[in-house]
Amino acid sequence: MGAADVVTKPASGDGRMKAVTEPPQIGPGTNDTLSVTDNRTGTTYEIPIENGAVHATELRKIRSGPEDFGLVSYDPGFLNTAACRSAITYIDGDKGILRYRGYPIEEIAEKKTFLEIAYLVLNGEFPTRSQADAWVFEITHHTFLHENIKKFIDGFQHDAHPMGILLSTIGALSTFYPEAKKIFDADIRQKQIVRLIAKTPTIAAFAFRHAAGLPYVYPDNDLSYPGNFLNMLWKTTELKYTPDPALERALNVLFVLHADHEQNCSTSTMRVVGSSQTDPYSAAAAAVGALYGPLHGGANEQVVRMLQEIGSVKNIPEHIKRVKAGEFRLMGFGHRVYRNYDPRARIIKRVAEEVFSVTGRNPLIDIAIELEKIALDDDYFVSRKLYPNVDFYSGIIYQAMRFPVEMFPVLFAIGRMPGWLAQWQEGLLDAEQKIARPLQIYVGPKERHV
Ligand code: ACO
Repeated sequence: MGAADVVTKPASGDGRMKAVTEPPQIGPGTNDTLSVTDNRTGTTYEIPIENGAVHATELRKIRSGPEDFGLVSYDPGFLNTAACRSAITYIDGDKGILRYRGYPIEEIAEKKTFLEIAYLVLNGEFPTRSQADAWVFEITHHTFLHENIKKFIDGFQHDAHPMGILLSTIGALSTFYPEAKKIFDADIRQKQIVRLIAKTPTIAAFAFRHAAGLPYVYPDNDLSYPGNFLNMLWKTTELKYTPDPALERALNVLFVLHADHEQNCSTSTMRVVGSSQTDPYSAAAAAVGALYGPLHGGANEQVVRMLQEIGSVKNIPEHIKRVKAGEFRLMGFGHRVYRNYDPRARIIKRVAEEVFSVTGRNPLIDIAIELEKIALDDDYFVSRKLYPNVDFYSGIIYQAMRFPVEMFPVLFAIGRMPGWLAQWQEGLLDAEQKIARPLQIYVGPKERHV
């Protein structure tokens, strides 16, 4: 289903939106059904096909007898299950296409600011000039943290992982803004969206400074979103911090590339937790937790560790051999959705050269480029359609920018926050959404007695 195929409009009453679907006309129309014959009973069922999907609940009508619960679909890892309709991000993994609200990532990544993209992802259109001014003003004026949050961060051990600090502190924000529980009040919801986008970089920078034993640097309202983040990270004794424009630009692109990626693990977590109608801070904290894992946002950290371990171009063949023997995975390679080159990886590779012109070349890039070349020439990777993903090159750039590896997933979280919030809000306002509650196939003991 294309992103433009579903429009939403307010429904009367509770202020929610109702999905109005205009499905593409695939096939002859009236024949858009699936005929299924249950060989246990010989009964044939007609299941409607809509937007290339069947409603899983239709399967429940297929029963072997009156006592039967009905057929369920079994899909661990959700390999073939759509959990929502969404008009935000479109991915064609086979072709390597990524679009936010219909705009190809290649067209917008280097031309738009992260805050423009955040507005687009959240609202469906780019802001007009006055909307953009108001949006940037709002974000810029919500970057400060309550002073008690500083004390809260102070309580962490000196070597606490910044992602753990981010997760806990975002969750803790819900206690500072109890009105956030009123999730169906549009103004209150918008206020929390602004707060989360504005404060996440501040928490991230404070977590970094805490680990480094450095005093916290307060936000500077004169700077851009990525420029201010660099200020909060690196300012020392100077009266005014001036971010390097090339690094500011690179960070902007990296944030844009991470802004949304439809129903990935952390976004699904945000939607699932949000479906219980909790406040957005609690849902976002859960999403950060999902992103923390090495198979998701933690992968770029693993890529850098892997490249360091390989150490030299001459050791690549041996490493590939061990990957193929199943000893470990090639980190930064493969993707659940992309069975082609991740378009974000291509853009990041370009940004890397720009960053190196300021920071000096990170020698790991040469190992990475050679590793990619050898892997893409090897039948193991080609036959499994394993290509570099967004994390393959991002860590190398972050390292050149002097970020410790522990900060990599934190940077990812800053970029992904608008996507999490847009998806959370879309789910909340979707009249079809219910509390997420999957079924199970029980394989434990039958009833027994002590
Ligand atoms: N290195 C070596 N082999 C791999 C890799 C890899 N990175 N990824 C997948 N494979 C192989 C599997 O061993 C399997 O082979 P088999 O069919 O012989 O058993 C086949 O490819 C399919 O793998 P699955 O695990 O079924 O693929 P899935 O879609 O579940 O996994 C994932 C996707 C988790 C991203 C996987 O490719 C992986 O572990 N990659 C490395 C970690 C990584 O880079 N994660 C970042 C993802 S991007 C992001 O989250 C922002």
